[in-house]
Amino acid sequence: MTVTERVRPGVDAGRLMEHITALAAIGATPDGGVTRLAFSPEDVEGRAYVARLMAEAGLAVRVDPAGNLIGTRPGIDPGAATLVLGSHIDTVVNGGAYDGAYGVLAAIEVARTLAERGVRLACGLAVVAFCDEEGGHGTMGMLGAHGFAGALPPGIAKVLDERGVPVGDLLAAVGGDAERLPEAAWAPGDIAAYLELHVEQGDVLERRGVPIGVVESIAGRVNVSVTVEGVAGHAGTTSMDHRSDALVAAARVVLAVRAIAAEEGVVLRATTGTCSVGPGMWNVIPGRVRLGVEFRDVSADRLDAALARLAGAAGEIAAADGVTVTVEPGARTTPVACDPRLRDLVAGAARERGLDCHHLPSGAGHDAQIVARVAPIGMIFVPSEGGISHAPGEHTAPHHLVWGADVLLSAVLRFDEAPVARG
Ligand code: GLV
Ligand code: MN
Ligand code: MN
Repeated sequence: MTVTERVRPGVDAGRLMEHITALAAIGATPDGGVTRLAFSPEDVEGRAYVARLMAEAGLAVRVDPAGNLIGTRPGIDPGAATLVLGSHIDTVVNGGAYDGAYGVLAAIEVARTLAERGVRLACGLAVVAFCDEEGGHGTMGMLGAHGFAGALPPGIAKVLDERGVPVGDLLAAVGGDAERLPEAAWAPGDIAAYLELHVEQGDVLERRGVPIGVVESIAGRVNVSVTVEGVAGHAGTTSMDHRSDALVAAARVVLAVRAIAAEEGVVLRATTGTCSVGPGMWNVIPGRVRLGVEFRDVSADRLDAALARLAGAAGEIAAADGVTVTVEPGARTTPVACDPRLRDLVAGAARERGLDCHHLPSGAGHDAQIVARVAPIGMIFVPSEGGISHAPGEHTAPHHLVWGADVLLSAVLRFDEAPVARG
């Protein structure tokens, strides 16, 4: 039987859409978004729902010590490495219904479709809902994927989230086990390949009118904490020329961050996403401000150049405003390339479905870029309407969602017929 005969028709479109709608209802916000922060009660409920779907798809379900929810099915060849499909189901605050959730639910639908057609793969199959991709409550982000790749920083279990809860306790809430984290790691030879289906979260595919994206590379990111220390004082009595206002200086830092990408072009993207002001009262001149900054680029050198430029700007602002500005780089992901053979595999799967594809880089981060440390990775994108993501307006047309899942199904079968050798 040819690959094409094995996969027509594709996945069950109605069932996939039903599952996407049901998961989106867990943590739904009044303005149409979803808040399902990692480790929250909503995340726990969402994971239980996804675990049930995995079991219904005939997968053996477990949670690894790093909190990853994993459904597996052995292949015909007991010695064969596993083909891993996955993404995440946690969201940002008031995010969308598709970021991550789509990739997990489509992968489960692919596994279920194969089981229903009686297709047994030669290789083992695993579907993974990675734990805490988004960095819920100020955690490092892609926590589960780091555990999966054996790349968690030492002492991570004792690191506190922004509420003061240790990561070890967070993991326990979702069935993980900080004492056994090394057991979550897969060895390089264990994984034949990793494929992740995701909404694009940008507008390239929509503008080109192309339904399938073949991801070439994934941008890296560096998070930076910037602390500005001035002098708190009375807002009514302190004259305007005797102030060391930490928030005014922080505002200059925010503009400098923007300029590093927008005007100076040192790096592709630069964002200040958080700001906490102390003591935080109307009638007190701010004495201390903490900013959360991140830079993104497909080049690690440009990330370093942005850090150096920010340090320079911080020095200039400190001198001009009479404050101290401390710049501390934090979590970092390196830019990675998708495996060229898996890119070809995805393009071939799209062709087989009669769908055009376009090759593009990913500006967003993905679990795939961490899994890349232990496996060849490939990613499939589908269009995001208006390029909107990490916001309630995130939307992808149902036919695009279904086509993406069909391409994933074809890619799995093509892979099984001609595995991409690691090397
Ligand atoms: C992941 O969601 C990212 O922020 O890129
Ligand atoms: Mn996201
Ligand atoms: Mn995502």
